Amino acid sequence: MKKAIVYYSYSGNTKSIVDMIKEKVDADVFDIKPKEPYSNDYDEVVYLGQDEVNSNTLREIENVDINLDNYDTVILATPV
Ligand SMILES: Cc1cc2nc3c(=O)[nH]c(=O)nc-3n(C[C@H](O)[C@H](O)[C@H](O)COP(=O)(O)O)c2cc1C
Repeated sequence: MKKAIVYYSYSGNTKSIVDMIKEKVDADVFDIKPKEPYSNDYDEVVYLGQDEVNSNTLREIENVDINLDNYDTVILATPV
């Protein structure tokens, strides 16, 4: 079974979890990057994130170079 981990991490917490998963699971790792990065101001990011959810806005991301047909399992990891 081939596995992929696709993740986004704003400040590194999710990345730490991904690193822990990687110690237990043999998986290829793919990093999601927003085309327009979030602000360095945490409060602004939380405000904007909630606004994006409420207005159903999907932030554009850079292309993730992954062929999903090659994987049986995809683990998606993001901040909440
Ligand atoms: C787009 C976005 C939206 C967020 N919205 C909230 C939120 O609504 N409430 C909250 O408490 N934290 C919010 N956060 C903060 C993250 O949940 C928190 O900082 C998390 O640890 C970030 O994980 P990371 O270090 O992998 O980026 C948000 C972060 C991002 C990037």
